[in-house]
Amino acid sequence: MCGIVGYVGEKACERILVNALKNLEYRGYDSAGIAVFEGDKIKTVKAKGSIDSGLSLKLDREPSLKAVAGIGHTRWATHGEPSDINAHPIGNARISIVHNGIIENYRKIKAFLIDKGYSFESQTDTEAVAKLLDYNYNGNPTETIAQTVAQLEGAYSLGIIFREHKNKLFAVRKESPLIVGIGRGEMYIASDMTAILEYTKEYYLPDAGEIAEVTRDGVTFFDIHGNVIEKEINIAEWDVTAAQKGGYEHFMLKEIHEQPAALKNTLTPRISDGIPSFEECGLTDEMLRNYKNIYIVGCGSAMHAGMVGKYVIEDIARIPVTVDIASEFKYRKPLLTKDDLLIIISQSGETADTLSALKLGKEIGADTLAAVNVTGSSIDREAKMSMKTLAGPEISVCSTKAYMVQCAFMYMFALRLAYARGRLDEAKCKEYTSKLLEIPELIQECIDRKEQYQRVASKIMNASSLLYIGRGLDYALSMEGSLKLKEISYIHSESYAGGELKHGTISLIDEEMPVIAVATQTYLYSKTSSNVEQVKSRGAKTIVICRDGADVNSNIADYVVRLPETDDLLMPLVAAVPLQMLAYYTALDRQCSIDKPRNLAKSVTVE
Ligand code: AGP
Repeated sequence: MCGIVGYVGEKACERILVNALKNLEYRGYDSAGIAVFEGDKIKTVKAKGSIDSGLSLKLDREPSLKAVAGIGHTRWATHGEPSDINAHPIGNARISIVHNGIIENYRKIKAFLIDKGYSFESQTDTEAVAKLLDYNYNGNPTETIAQTVAQLEGAYSLGIIFREHKNKLFAVRKESPLIVGIGRGEMYIASDMTAILEYTKEYYLPDAGEIAEVTRDGVTFFDIHGNVIEKEINIAEWDVTAAQKGGYEHFMLKEIHEQPAALKNTLTPRISDGIPSFEECGLTDEMLRNYKNIYIVGCGSAMHAGMVGKYVIEDIARIPVTVDIASEFKYRKPLLTKDDLLIIISQSGETADTLSALKLGKEIGADTLAAVNVTGSSIDREAKMSMKTLAGPEISVCSTKAYMVQCAFMYMFALRLAYARGRLDEAKCKEYTSKLLEIPELIQECIDRKEQYQRVASKIMNASSLLYIGRGLDYALSMEGSLKLKEISYIHSESYAGGELKHGTISLIDEEMPVIAVATQTYLYSKTSSNVEQVKSRGAKTIVICRDGADVNSNIADYVVRLPETDDLLMPLVAAVPLQMLAYYTALDRQCSIDKPRNLAKSVTVE
């Protein structure tokens, strides 16, 4: 999730742009830059690293830029390593742009432009947009922009300057956020109000496809046909902190709400001819056919995503999968061989235990495939192959959207593996893939049902310990539910295979021990229901998380949380949401520090 800013007015814009970018630091980034009008040229200064250690140092070495208009950007790398070349703004002598979002058809655009004689320096999708604007440029910026965005597929918010239109900013968006800030004798563009709240609280919200032409005296909005559009002025009610959370009370809640988009960003660009493709990271069908075993390592939520992956891969691809806690993997002399594939899952890409497991895998000679959320992280660089989970920065220590896209990665991998090994025919693989692409909508529907989670949270908030039970994929998922509750509400909980309860643990059950049953797997529903009956008869308060259409016996379920339905195989992606929301609202009721739980760090870079 990159940050965009722009300024046009009477003041020297360099410092204003840098300050506005610093206000967007919470969004996470790995490089930053500005492009300003200087004389009759566009002057660009950009650098890898933090604003202070990169961009600002470079600017200090430049003679002070006298510019009064320009654009700026903080980059969260999705396509291409963090580097000076890949940093924004990106363009050429005539045009410069900053971009937030993912252009899904950038490879096709790039090939078209190379054919037209263009060369490309960066690895970014953004450069394809900049060069397409240049190719389409007819002297009229708004016409050029309208023609260009009509050729783009994906999500974007763009800040654009044209050398021949000095001291004018242009902006356009689709799906990615963008605002136009209103000053007195000066105007702004930004990804969100956080960047410019200290300068103004008045702003416009461009709708998708509306083109903003911004000068120091104001803004004109055009539709794609060039007609002028009148827009309402909005007044920001937020303080800076609230704005960073997009109006949500916590980053965790914001990131739960970002899951539909995170899933779409991670899945859509990887679907080729209706099925998942790993071409971008060099994993071929031949390689997939040759692996003898799959090993998956990770920590915490990342390992739990691996557990979901195990059940899915073994179910549809019929190849043995071993999932290890990374800190155990290294010391248990794993049976991994050079004929196996080691999958490394990590949001931060810096978790020391996971990085150690990766290095051991490489020493053994196994192929290594990383699923990381941070481009250029240690694990991203160290693994032989790496596929980004495109969730955007996850600020809350408690992982939600990163876990979601890690599971999505597992599904894409399982489907391609099963297809490559002939375990799934093309039609069945396309059917699953099509259902996978419908999940973002089902997640949104789950998020919208928040009252049911709030109700249950109020009933479990005083428990000292809980059990999460489930069978099959429901059991794999319940591990994540238990961790979510523990880490932010500080209530002890444990996930347990439903069928295993009777072999000892059921002795814990009494009126003080609520039991949350994850019961989404239709073929196991009656078995899980009898587990609920067992604990109910011993006094437990029971919460059943099930499908909309499930027949729930009200004598055994004190509370029912219902979910929209999809194929059994895909239900963990849907059922993850109630588990996240349950933990969130329970922690809220207990007035816990949700985004920064005690004793925890976002990335554990020590063993
Ligand atoms: C998840 O809510 C936790 N914050 C934690 O378990 C986390 O998943 C684990 O530390 C792994 O982190 P990584 O994905 O960055 O490697």
